[in-house]
Amino acid sequence: MKEHLVFAMLTLLLTACNSKPEPTENNQLESESSYYLEEHRPQFHFSPEEMWMNDPNGMVYHEGEFHLFYQHYPDSNVWGPMHWGHAISSDLVHWEHLPIALYPDSLGYIFSGSAVIDHANTSGFGTQNSPPMIAIFTHHEPEGAADQNAVDFQYQSIAYSTDRGRTWTKYEENPVVANPGIRDFRDPKVIWDEGSEQWVMIFAAYDHVKIYGSADLKNWEHLSDFGKRWGTHGGVWECPDLFPMTVEGSNEERWVLLLSINPGGPYGGSATQYFIGDFDGKKFQLDKTFSDDVRNENAVWLEYGKDNYAGVTWSDVPETDGRRIFMGWMSNWQYAQIVPTYVWRSAMTIPRELVLKETEVGLRVASIPVAELSSLRTESFDLQPGEVQGTIDVLAGLSQKEGLYEIEIEFENTSAEDIVLILSNNRGDEVKFGYETEGNYFFVDRSNSGKVDFSPDFPGTHTAPRILSSDRLSLHCFIDVSSIEVFGDDGLSILTEIFFPNEVLTDLSLQSTGEGLKIASGQVHALKQIWR
Ligand code: FRU
Repeated sequence: MKEHLVFAMLTLLLTACNSKPEPTENNQLESESSYYLEEHRPQFHFSPEEMWMNDPNGMVYHEGEFHLFYQHYPDSNVWGPMHWGHAISSDLVHWEHLPIALYPDSLGYIFSGSAVIDHANTSGFGTQNSPPMIAIFTHHEPEGAADQNAVDFQYQSIAYSTDRGRTWTKYEENPVVANPGIRDFRDPKVIWDEGSEQWVMIFAAYDHVKIYGSADLKNWEHLSDFGKRWGTHGGVWECPDLFPMTVEGSNEERWVLLLSINPGGPYGGSATQYFIGDFDGKKFQLDKTFSDDVRNENAVWLEYGKDNYAGVTWSDVPETDGRRIFMGWMSNWQYAQIVPTYVWRSAMTIPRELVLKETEVGLRVASIPVAELSSLRTESFDLQPGEVQGTIDVLAGLSQKEGLYEIEIEFENTSAEDIVLILSNNRGDEVKFGYETEGNYFFVDRSNSGKVDFSPDFPGTHTAPRILSSDRLSLHCFIDVSSIEVFGDDGLSILTEIFFPNEVLTDLSLQSTGEGLKIASGQVHALKQIWR
């Protein structure tokens, strides 16, 4: 059994008395005014109202609603019997919580998976006029999982909804993909493949991915495997995604395969690698130019921060929109269950648009914050262009400093010296981030960010190599009360990191130690929260 699952089971036993708080009439008013205002509660990131959350699941767009399902244990703030929690959004920014969509059943817990709209009603669960929403997930049978000799306790199942995801019926002939004897056999992502005119399912099987095809989402045929020889294998492969993308500024198409791995990330624990290639309706074949990057246990990482895991992309985003939109779980299995929050645990990253770019080092997937996030801005001002001398108060032009910021700065002459931004409070807690010239990397240092000693794996500096060599460099950052997402070079070098300061980090300064670094342009925005 996987490390984190064993750990989770133990924690579950130890915290069995940690049950859901019952709201009473007396504390109703008080709880309304403090709704989503607990210490460390993310203000513009998605988090569950209460209790445990991990991976995003079943992300699908349908009739004006972006659906977000998620791994959820409603009875405790640590991992346990998995359900699919559910929320919807019309703009990817504001979320409405809906009742739990899928509950564990006699076949097991409801592990990660995806959802699609069956427009042609191939499954027969709906009609062509009213196509069903189909969820494809892993059933994880806990008794089998507890037995060290058992191998066949994870299998793929489906459920359908004919009322826009509000109520669900599990297919009576589940599972739809039986387990052939592989302990880790999970996290199906289904797409409709235009080229081969079939449903394609990709899921993780310990050290590789398996690809299956189907005409009706119920009967599946094994098509191929990928990955044993490619990428890194320092942990179990989980949560794949597979989709076509057009190379930016061209008509060329490539297929991108996202793949989460735990442990074995660049700084330990969980992280997401990816592969670029072609899919012919049967097999995923690596691009020749990309294969050298993922040979001999090398990985190309989607990002280098410690807190972006199990992310996948939305299905059925309308063609008129055309974006490939990604969201990840903003935590790491190394410490996710012991972070110092108690009412709820974990948040998602901001939604990001993935863009396939030709760069100096070959094709790379960049992540760009979705444009809708600009609706969070309450106040904005421009930074003065020119040489950076001494320490600049980056937030000087804001009338309110509440710790929710978006910062966009383009620097010039970056070979001159390091760029160091310091997010801080009056208690001496700080998160440093920026760019280091000598090492040629972007960094986030959360060593002194407040509560750090709940896990030896938490504090530290994490770096993302710079792949561009231009003397101009852009930084785009989203800062919430317990996270920072740094997008360097238009999303080619990224770090997502969480933190737990003793008070909100409301100040932000930019330091320069030498001479020559210039701000070409910069915008600073105060952001508002989404829950009130
Ligand atoms: C990834 C993961 C998945 C699994 C789920 C269980 O974080 O381990 O592989 O389906 O979490 O909650």
